[in-house]
Amino acid sequence: MLLNSTHSDSNHQDGVYYLADEAAMLDFSNSFASFLQTGLVITLVGNLGAGKTTLVRGILHGLGYQGIVKSPTYNLVEIYKFSRLYLYHFDFYRFNDCLEWEEAGFREYFNSTSICFVEWPEKIGNLLPNADLQFSIEILETGRNIAIQTGTDAGKQCLEYWRNQKKT
Ligand SMILES: Nc1ncnc2c1ncn2[C@@H]1O[C@H](COP(=O)(O)OP(=O)(O)O)[C@@H](O)[C@H]1O
Ligand SMILES: [Mg+2]
Repeated sequence: MLLNSTHSDSNHQDGVYYLADEAAMLDFSNSFASFLQTGLVITLVGNLGAGKTTLVRGILHGLGYQGIVKSPTYNLVEIYKFSRLYLYHFDFYRFNDCLEWEEAGFREYFNSTSICFVEWPEKIGNLLPNADLQFSIEILETGRNIAIQTGTDAGKQCLEYWRNQKKT
């Protein structure tokens, strides 16, 4: 009997993009802003200094936010309110206690009226809801490579719309 060799695309790798500098990173992420739907969970993977927070800054600028985008490293989450949605920017680098997740009520932040960006999802393990999209940033000698993976149909749809726009 053949082992099940069909490719599961529940975590489908969907392209790698080279971004030469911070401005390219901001342009890239800015271009995603109008394709984000409420309910999305987007994880950001990469070493310290990879550009995860820069990516969120580009998204926020794309959504029209003009204030300062702080790294949420110390208080774990920064909250941005837009007319139609909440955007939560988590950074779980310093997260080390599952009780903290319960006590802070973080589970409630992941809902159909919010978009959640999560730095260091590895630290949360399976407490974190399934990611719709994941951006993985690799630090190169000059610039960054960014890989996009989709985890759900909603993530796939967002990516497809974004790619179609890029072609035009
Ligand atoms: N594509 C890029 N090429 C080179 N430098 C970048 C790029 N994107 C971001 N940076 C820089 O890398 C640093 C990353 O900072 P940050 O976004 O805070 O990283 P992280 O949140 O992953 O720790 C910033 O100094 C930013 O200017
Ligand atoms: Mg950061």
